[in-house]
Amino acid sequence: MKKKVALLPGDGIGPEVCREAVKVLDKIADKYGHEFIFEEKKVGGAAIDEFGEPLPNDTLETCQNSDAILFGSVGGPKWDNLAPEKRPEVGSLLPLRKKFDLFVNLRPARLFPNLESTSPLKDKIIEGGFDFVVLRELTGGIYFGKKGKEEGRAFDEMKYERHEVERITRVAFEAAKKRKGKVTNVDKSNVLLTSVFWREVVNEVHQAEYSDVELEHLYIDNATMQILVRPKDFDVILTSNMFGDILSDEAAQISGSLGNLPSASLNESNFGLFEPAGGSAPDIAGKDMANPIAQILSASMMLKYSFSMDKESEDIDQAIKKSLESGFRTGDIFSGKEGEKKVGTQEMGKIILENI
Ligand code: IPM
Ligand code: MN
Repeated sequence: MKKKVALLPGDGIGPEVCREAVKVLDKIADKYGHEFIFEEKKVGGAAIDEFGEPLPNDTLETCQNSDAILFGSVGGPKWDNLAPEKRPEVGSLLPLRKKFDLFVNLRPARLFPNLESTSPLKDKIIEGGFDFVVLRELTGGIYFGKKGKEEGRAFDEMKYERHEVERITRVAFEAAKKRKGKVTNVDKSNVLLTSVFWREVVNEVHQAEYSDVELEHLYIDNATMQILVRPKDFDVILTSNMFGDILSDEAAQISGSLGNLPSASLNESNFGLFEPAGGSAPDIAGKDMANPIAQILSASMMLKYSFSMDKESEDIDQAIKKSLESGFRTGDIFSGKEGEKKVGTQEMGKIILENI
């Protein structure tokens, strides 16, 4: 297969981890007879510096002409004083999500074997590992409602349309059917009317189309606690844009290092943007210290979700597992235990490459 990929490395550690992901994709192309054509463009702070805006037209056009977007990370102290909508993160990610209608945000949270010690949770809670996914609605809710700020007053409107809730709910049940068969819906329906409505729609879709899938409901405040005490009980966590933003950071943190977690943002036709869950980590940028695994796993999700290359994606995931089993660790996942070998970004990439 021939596929065009918009490569948007961005700022901080983005470029160096993207470099490793591209090497991995090139190797997969070789091995399976595919052709990946990368078109690299500036985004975020790097684009502000060169073109004065975080998402230049030229970058957007490249995305439009591609089969998927592989995104690094954006932002850094240099651009922290800009107004929210001009900042690298908000000014690039939000318009990309809206433009391509990327309403499905998949953020897996799992504990890799042998990495238990990187999780802040007690051994008895995470024993045997956990594996769930936060499914966040990404193009609606309070992020995209009407907003305003004037003298003495400010507001952000939260609104959900039936079709918006229905489509993400279906994705949740479909995902659960392929996983452990359970959806946990998280909302705030004891207080918010948008949540009352959201929960009604989830229940309707469940009864009409997916009554064989287990459905549980939690309020957001309780959910943040339950994730800490029974992470193994979760499979697919379905939630709105704002709550998903918060829950996915919590889920990432209990998985140990952010450096291991990918994410996918998809639309109805499986076009997607794939990026690591972590940020641009400006403190370690350019020092060959960053963990490239999240970026490489994001590339793997791209193969699976946008290109339907399940075998190729599985090959990458296995290569990463094998590299970790052999004891190779970047600084963020190094615990000093016997058998561990501390390596840099490039070395880690090379080892993963060799395991493909
Ligand atoms: C995320 C980020 C973004 C969000 C920001 C940078 C706009 O925190 O992807 O989780 O809030 O969605
Ligand atoms: Mn976030």
